[in-house]
Amino acid sequence: MKNNKLKGIKLFSNNDSRKQASGKTSTEFMSREIIGKVRKFHQSFPKYQPTPLHSLPKLANKINIKKIWVKDESFRLGLNAFKVLGGSYAIAFYLSCKLGIEIAELSFEALKTPEYKEKLGTITFVTATDGNHGRGVAWTARELDQKAVVFMPKGSSQFRVDNIKKENAEVIVTNEYYDETVKMAANFAAENNGVLIQDTAWEGYIEIPTWIMQGYSTLIDEVLEQMKMQGDLMPTHVFLQAGVGSLAAAIQGYLTTKFGDDRPLTVIIEPHNAACLFKSAQIGDTKPHAVGGSLATIMAGLACGKPNIIAWRVLRDYADFFISCSDGIAAKGMKILGNSLLNDPKIISGESGAVGLGLLVELLTNDSYRDLRKKMSLFKESRVLIFSTEGDTDPDHYRKIVWEGKHSFLG
Ligand SMILES: Cc1ncc(COP(=O)(O)O)c(C=O)c1O
Repeated sequence: MKNNKLKGIKLFSNNDSRKQASGKTSTEFMSREIIGKVRKFHQSFPKYQPTPLHSLPKLANKINIKKIWVKDESFRLGLNAFKVLGGSYAIAFYLSCKLGIEIAELSFEALKTPEYKEKLGTITFVTATDGNHGRGVAWTARELDQKAVVFMPKGSSQFRVDNIKKENAEVIVTNEYYDETVKMAANFAAENNGVLIQDTAWEGYIEIPTWIMQGYSTLIDEVLEQMKMQGDLMPTHVFLQAGVGSLAAAIQGYLTTKFGDDRPLTVIIEPHNAACLFKSAQIGDTKPHAVGGSLATIMAGLACGKPNIIAWRVLRDYADFFISCSDGIAAKGMKILGNSLLNDPKIISGESGAVGLGLLVELLTNDSYRDLRKKMSLFKESRVLIFSTEGDTDPDHYRKIVWEGKHSFLG
């Protein structure tokens, strides 16, 4: 496979992340007030429950750090991934604007009432996805008795396609890679009076992706609440995997707004073949840069060639480290999480979900990364928060990796 010979882990340290500079991007899109509204909206879902925050003391001890937490998004609303948090909030916000009612005054259930449905009429929500975001949009549209049309790139997993179809969405698998598929979805929405609910932003398409990112705040808000309840100290490091960077920037924005200079160190992780944020950080001319080609990686959710422009500005100004890594690191994370040590919980984590844990273990146990862990201040006293952003969203592939050892090459 292309790029198999690439080194397992590449690091870029962002020297500007902690500098005080007047021109830095605002993170007020993650204000306390907005986070409160998002959380209240998600809490209005009848099936809402915070997903588990696991602690892995045996593994932490084994790799010689103080603490590892894993937020397990395989439990999110029965959809096996975190993504629905963003799509559902953006759709609800859009509908609240149409109805002229504050989102804070609208519950999910209220949006389902015949009274509102009649006012809104039938709306077609359109999106492009590697799987998880589209499933969240389709789920929300079905719940609200609206329509969804979902575009997926060539090579999409049939299991993921079928799961979106099960939510009554129309699914179109294109002959293009992810970024071109996003363009096709945008054109389709424009030509068919649809509403594009895309989880990435570009010049002229800002509002809806901002709402999507705000929707992701529930994830970190839950974590901090769970840590408080457990009497835990704050993490020293937060590992965040990135496709277009919306999730990572949402959490980075949240942490920056809430904790300022006292925020934990953040590590942005991408697969080698789709490392557009890493590339942008490395070029260092303040602009986002795309990567081209097939974006081949087992981490389907991270196979994006173009950064979200809002996310890029946040990560450029505040993220501490950018990492590009091989597929083997994700495979390693999946195997470790699914085969836990003694009393540590077993966690089913998919390709895009497990890369953070795989990276942490590799950094701390492979001595060729001694310099990297030093640069990243990963020591005995470190407390690391990891997001397992999906479960086995492609179960056949999951088993090929975890049972049969496929994609084990670490680079
Ligand atoms: C499981 C999973 N994790 C992480 C991401 C990355 O999110 P983003 O594209 O916002 O960077 C995705 C994106 O689809 C995903 O599906």
